[in-house]
Amino acid sequence: MNHPSTPAIAVHGGAGSLDDSGTSGLGPDAPREAGVGRAASAAWELLRRGGSALDAVVLAASLLEDDPTFNAGTGATLTSAGHVELDASLMDGATLGAGAVACVKDVKNPILLARAVLERSPHLLIVADGASAFAREMGIPAWPNERLVIPQQRARFDASAGVKPTTVGGGTIGAVARDRNGHVAAATSTGGTFLKRPGRVGDSPIIGAGTYADDRLAAVSSTGHGEPIIRVTLARLVADLVGAGRSPGEAAAEGIRILGARVAGQGGVIVVGPSGDPGFAFNTPAMARAWSDGSGNIRTAL
Ligand code: GLY
Repeated sequence: MNHPSTPAIAVHGGAGSLDDSGTSGLGPDAPREAGVGRAASAAWELLRRGGSALDAVVLAASLLEDDPTFNAGTGATLTSAGHVELDASLMDGATLGAGAVACVKDVKNPILLARAVLERSPHLLIVADGASAFAREMGIPAWPNERLVIPQQRARFDASAGVKPTTVGGGTIGAVARDRNGHVAAATSTGGTFLKRPGRVGDSPIIGAGTYADDRLAAVSSTGHGEPIIRVTLARLVADLVGAGRSPGEAAAEGIRILGARVAGQGGVIVVGPSGDPGFAFNTPAMARAWSDGSGNIRTAL
């Protein structure tokens, strides 16, 4: 059990296969565990110095977006049209404020654009060309789509003739945190599923499905096959289970059990409850993850 004034961070690098060659396309040597560990350590340091849960999840998510190991920001998977389309969202458990973007093609860090939607617009979700226009208004520079594409993803696309689109968006990233003041926040970012139809939107930018945070419940970030996750509103489902008295670990496990049983969904969740205790569950072979223990040590697992 975490001490009430001890902050907490948990990060995921996507639910998928153990070597991830079938989901993110980056192969068995992709250093996913090290990547989530670095992001969690940076966010933990921010929380330790008194930073907010919202700042911590945005920092972790932006570091993971910049890490080409993950299917978010730079290194994202390609659509059937051969370009990157990015989705992201975040939620502040203190205010229930949320911001999200989808189908963004020309922003390096969509989580920063989602934050601008939360803090500097009257809206919650802005998509496609409208999101690009909003980014420019906010002073977020245009980032060429080709600079989001890494050679491994281009090669995977070039070899994809006759390949069916993947369903699990392996390598999606997410972060949940609780700060010293007891506030929680959650963030999620993805390139979506490999060979998705342009314009397809998964769970990651959908509040209640990919992301949810409420100080009275918990902070949750989902990963996996977006369509089933949306149908059970997985993040809100898990948060409600914490609110009903389950531990974060029990709530995560029950949410993933329901995802599998009701809609044959594949995926995972990370949770931080109001106590700061983390929870994880996934029904895929692996989910890269990192979290702070009650002493502030960062632990990692695949
Ligand atoms: N969970 C990521 C997606 O389905 O887009």
